[in-house]
Amino acid sequence: MLIDSFGRTIDYIRISVTKNCNFRCKYCMPNTPDEIEENLIPLDKMLEFLKIAMDYGVKKIRITGGEPLLRKDLSLFIKGIYDYKNNIEVALTTNGYLLKKYAKNLKDSGLKRINVSLDSLKKEKIELISKKDALNNVLEGLKEAKQSGLKIKLNMVPLKGINDNEIISMLDFAINEGFLLRYIEYMENNFASNAIKGLRSFEILENIQKKYKYTMLKKEMFGPAKLYKINNTNNVFGIIAPHNDEFCLSCNRIRITAEGVICPCLYFQDAVDVGEAIRNTDKKAMEEALLLAIKNKPEKNKWQEGEISSRAFYHTGG
Ligand code: 5AD
Ligand code: SF4
Repeated sequence: MLIDSFGRTIDYIRISVTKNCNFRCKYCMPNTPDEIEENLIPLDKMLEFLKIAMDYGVKKIRITGGEPLLRKDLSLFIKGIYDYKNNIEVALTTNGYLLKKYAKNLKDSGLKRINVSLDSLKKEKIELISKKDALNNVLEGLKEAKQSGLKIKLNMVPLKGINDNEIISMLDFAINEGFLLRYIEYMENNFASNAIKGLRSFEILENIQKKYKYTMLKKEMFGPAKLYKINNTNNVFGIIAPHNDEFCLSCNRIRITAEGVICPCLYFQDAVDVGEAIRNTDKKAMEEALLLAIKNKPEKNKWQEGEISSRAFYHTGG
């Protein structure tokens, strides 16, 4: 088991498989160049690192980016994870643009659940937020994923004056399709557009109240959202509210980038570079780096004290 200096069991790894993305979302990387240079570690080598982590008790792996579906051998990688440990919980976060093409492969690799970012159901709004005319592709991707039998969560980041008038229509859409919609509070960071302002969870709930009465449930099982049930129905939605929730106390995760840097905390700069060890399949060095990262994991982030992370979310995988 991996236990950090504050007694927390670390059993969850988020792995970013690329910091590149085919979108340029306002809250993420609106101003980065089209192609970011990166020294990618081949996924079969990455798998060897994950095997060590799984041997140490890691039970859940989330694949993020950038946009993970830009890595063409992703399904094989996922299959490799399941082949090593079949009761592992693997999940994928994607913007959905390439989902139509890959949904079936992903399902066949053993994957069960995906999170798809969808901020609007209006073509122009999607283009405004992500700088890509992507709505149609994402909707088709969702359809294909649903047909393939993948369980789907939608992530929406409500932004003032941009998509906050779609809080209810997005919920109705998700309910109709059988997807779990989670609203995410915009997290301030140095790479986002200065012009945007996110809605806080109470503002999101105020919007929902215009149509629905709801009751708060417990936290979701496989994620950080608080869940709410719409009264007299079985319909549920979630809110991820990093501004007011005490995440750190129960933090169970570390992150690794596509270049092999382990980040013990999203909002701290310190990191352990395990890239060379992974490239050389040096198991001893990989193990040492993993244990060092766990040992270095800080108790709390400094974000709530007003300190903004200067490491990009598209780099560490959010
Ligand atoms: N604040 C909140 N959510 C963000 N995401 C990316 N950047 C931010 C941010 N700054 C969300 C995306 C996606 C998930 C990977 O994280 O919408 O759903
Ligand atoms: Fe790409 Fe996701 Fe960032 Fe949007 S939020 S630019 S889809 S990585």
